[in-house]
Amino acid sequence: MTKKIIVAIDGFSSCGKSTMAKQLAHDVGYIYIDSGAMYRAVALHCMRQGWITNDDMDVESIESHIHTVQLKFVLNDTGYAEIYLNGENVESAIRSLEVSNGASRVSTLPAVRKELVRQQQQMGVEKGIVMDGRDIGTVVFPDAELKVFLTASPEIRAQRRMDELLQKGEQVSFKDVLANVKERDYRDQNRKVSPLRKAEDAVLIDNSLMTLREQQKVIMELFEQRVAAL
Ligand code: DC
Repeated sequence: MTKKIIVAIDGFSSCGKSTMAKQLAHDVGYIYIDSGAMYRAVALHCMRQGWITNDDMDVESIESHIHTVQLKFVLNDTGYAEIYLNGENVESAIRSLEVSNGASRVSTLPAVRKELVRQQQQMGVEKGIVMDGRDIGTVVFPDAELKVFLTASPEIRAQRRMDELLQKGEQVSFKDVLANVKERDYRDQNRKVSPLRKAEDAVLIDNSLMTLREQQKVIMELFEQRVAAL
């Protein structure tokens, strides 16, 4: 039987990490795990409880209740994993701009990161996973056999995000989405705990000018090299 590896894909928001990760997982029969969805689900929970508002965050309540937030991924009819928050499917509820902001804020809290990293490491014990996020190659799986750091220009990422939101019927302006992308980049790179950075041994891929097919080819080649090297 072929040995399985862990693939860690990190990078800025809206640069296509989940598209790359989902595609690869599908092509090689691995499980795809969207770690950002876990931070988003925690944020949604905190917003519903009133622990996160526009101008305030009740850190004490969040930190003391983080262990009561149950997250799990369940495969849907098309074979992709969807996230459940305390038994409720929140896969589409977590994709709004408001929840994006909440996730970016809640992900700065050490107790939240500690708990989610623990759960993520648990999901990888048998390998055979592709996980995307911000700290997967640096903190969650520092020994991952394949690490990718994906990037694209802020304008291109804002356009991609805007197309996604418009498709879902959310009315947004390019200016707001671009500002949101830049704000999240800043927070992701400057938070004290596990800031976004490229692991030394990660392969840097800028997909600003790549087609999906080109990207798919690049990641598949890297994957095959790493499996062959085992
Ligand atoms: O990838 P995303 O946009 O769904 O992530 C939502 C937020 O969660 C984003 O602001 C960064 C944060 N995040 C994180 O801090 N660590 C991860 N491993 C994944 C996401």
